Amino acid sequence: MDFSTSNEESELSQAQTELYKHVYNFVGSMALKSAMELGIADAIHSHGKPITLLELATVLNLHPSKIGVLHRLLRLLTHNGLFARTTVPGIEGAEEETAYGLTPPSKLLVKSNSTCLAPIVKGALHSSSLDMWGSSKKWLTEDKEDLTLFESATGESFWEFLNKETESDTLSMFQEAMAADSNMFKLALKEGMHVFEGLTSLVDVAGGRGGISKLIHEAFPDIKCTVFDQPQVVASLSGDENLNFVAGDMFMSIPPADAVLLKWVLHDWNDEQSLKILKNCKEAISGRGKDGKVIIIEILIDETSDDRELTELKLKYDLVLLSMFNGKEREKKEWEELIYGAGFSSYKITPICGIKSLIEVFP
Ligand SMILES: C[S@@+](CC[C@H](N)C(=O)[O-])C[C@H]1O[C@@H](n2cnc3c(N)ncnc32)[C@H](O)[C@@H]1O
Repeated sequence: MDFSTSNEESELSQAQTELYKHVYNFVGSMALKSAMELGIADAIHSHGKPITLLELATVLNLHPSKIGVLHRLLRLLTHNGLFARTTVPGIEGAEEETAYGLTPPSKLLVKSNSTCLAPIVKGALHSSSLDMWGSSKKWLTEDKEDLTLFESATGESFWEFLNKETESDTLSMFQEAMAADSNMFKLALKEGMHVFEGLTSLVDVAGGRGGISKLIHEAFPDIKCTVFDQPQVVASLSGDENLNFVAGDMFMSIPPADAVLLKWVLHDWNDEQSLKILKNCKEAISGRGKDGKVIIIEILIDETSDDRELTELKLKYDLVLLSMFNGKEREKKEWEELIYGAGFSSYKITPICGIKSLIEVFP
């Protein structure tokens, strides 16, 4: 037997398996999207216990010829941990049957739960986010430095696409995805609540529909919270005495307050634009002197402390931000360059909520 050839063959087949895993990663994402669109998690949740294939197909109103398809979809989704497979006793002494239950990730798809992340699945796997990748070679070879992949593929920026009259459903979808992320944040916020203590006013810059401000307002009703975003996002929203919505442009100026919150904002922008936003934030808190602060909630890429899977997720996020907005997820050194570049004197990073970090920035 020729060992060198057999080693080579085994390396080759391992490499092929490895490559195919990367190629077919998308099938897992698409199977998850189908499960979300079908409402499989909601059906299991309403059933109140693990559900058999036939029961599930009936509740989902599937055509009887598609039961085998549902079985195969669930075979993948239970294998990868999104759903659980178990057995339930058969009816009237019949044999046990396979049944499907929820797992922690699929519980996040149940629409009646406050921590539902179905809008994120819908938004992240929307055709507008996927189709642009077909233009990546054109984008990388064309001589237009600031054009995003999204613009190169569609001829308009993602913000233009969202704000078009005809695409108002897409704007709602995007805002719902942001609101879902903020809702989820409720738990993480408990760990970071101390950063809001002692403040009398706070501006939530690019705060969307105010999901996060509402949580802060619930916990600290005496803080005067202002949600500051584009007119088309906040014009129709109203709050109360200590929660108000103000329309404006963060590149022009930001209303004054003790503190500014930037959650999930700076990663949408390149360094030059982020510097401009941070300088406007510094101006907004200048009335509070050294006691003012900017509270940033974002990803910190940290390959030395994070495990491989978490870093991979953060790096994937980075490419999403790059392709849609020319934005970026940043490493510690890049955060420092921005913070000191905008004229702040110190900062403190606290990891929260798995993927995100809380970065307090001081004048
Ligand atoms: C990724 S979302 C973040 C929303 C919110 N901070 C959250 O975490 O739910 C970015 C927000 O930036 C807002 N935005 C974009 N350009 C803006 C500008 N020039 N001034 C103010 N807000 C802006 C968008 O309308 C959008 O709501």
